[in-house]
Amino acid sequence: MLLDRLFGMFSNDLAIDLGTANTIVISKGHGIIINEPSVVALQKSRYGKKRVLAVGKEAKEMLGKTPDTIEAIRPLKEGVIADFDVAEEMIRFFIKKAHNRNSFIRPRVLICVPYGLTQVERKAVRDSAYSAGARDVILVEEPKAAAIGAGLPIKDPRGNMVIDIGGGTTEVGVISLEGLVRSKSIKVGGDRFDQEIISYMKNKYNLLIGERTGEAIKIEIGTAIKEDEPKKMSIKGRDQVSGLLKEIEISSEDVREAIKEPLEEISTAVVEVLEVVPPDLAGDIVENGIVLTGGGALLNGLDSYLSKRVELPVYIAENPLLSVANGTGAMLEDIELLKHITAND
Ligand SMILES: Nc1ncnc2c1ncn2[C@@H]1O[C@H](COP(=O)(O)OP(=O)(O)OP(=O)(O)O)[C@@H](O)[C@H]1O
Ligand SMILES: [Mg+2]
Repeated sequence: MLLDRLFGMFSNDLAIDLGTANTIVISKGHGIIINEPSVVALQKSRYGKKRVLAVGKEAKEMLGKTPDTIEAIRPLKEGVIADFDVAEEMIRFFIKKAHNRNSFIRPRVLICVPYGLTQVERKAVRDSAYSAGARDVILVEEPKAAAIGAGLPIKDPRGNMVIDIGGGTTEVGVISLEGLVRSKSIKVGGDRFDQEIISYMKNKYNLLIGERTGEAIKIEIGTAIKEDEPKKMSIKGRDQVSGLLKEIEISSEDVREAIKEPLEEISTAVVEVLEVVPPDLAGDIVENGIVLTGGGALLNGLDSYLSKRVELPVYIAENPLLSVANGTGAMLEDIELLKHITAND
């Protein structure tokens, strides 16, 4: 069988969780070897040619802080490749780094992509990995990888429900017997929270802040539920009216108000999936609850917020930022699992 040939005996194989916010690379037998933001910094030359200056953490530090000659780009938006050339450079960089800069190794690569991708978008991921030096590319769907990484018994004839909230997408999936029974993917995730926080600061306080500050606010004091003692944080930005720099104090209630809408959209997506779950599997979900994965799961109170909305128990996976990568890695190590998982795609 093709997969045996592809993944049977080679040890240079890689699994990649190509995320809108973070890219994680797993090497067969070695676990996670790279975990970096999906950001590329490009230096523009006088002749208009661009060269890669930095990738990952170093490039993220530059986001929003670059002079005119440098550009920091996030090649993925809402779970899909928005800038093909830059995505290819990023994948090439990570593949090379995974093999200690030996560019002669052409690995077989397992890439995790959102379930909601169109054929054209899937092809873009495949093509960029081939162009970046991969020899063979197999795509796996994010909800299944998330469920495996969260330790759910997806082989059993039982309804396992997982919600993966990443930077660009939220994927809701119900899995039974290794197949995705019901699912929904929406283009709402951590990035949207950041954007809503930026708009809110502008509208309420006339304060202009950048993407990185938006994210920092979310991580430090963001919350999905009302807290008894709201947290405070002082933030800096530019006054929209006077143009001067200023510092103000905001509270976690501001953030809760700011992200109300995307939270609502996520809970609606969850309800829509629950509405169409076959009755026997629904019983399992009532009994076992729902598991949250992805970095968005770390938003304070999101589990209780969703639990209240859908009236079911909601749990956070042990290491939500790594669930998808760990699940993809498990498929890299276990060819039988990979065969079953990809059989009904
Ligand atoms: N403590 C935290 N609280 C709230 N959000 C957080 C926290 N830590 C990380 N995040 C958010 O999680 C998101 C990144 O999650 P993750 O790495 O799962 O996304 P991704 O896999 O890159 O994206 P996608 O799956 O949508 O393509 C970012 O938006 C980040 O701001
Ligand atoms: Mg992800």
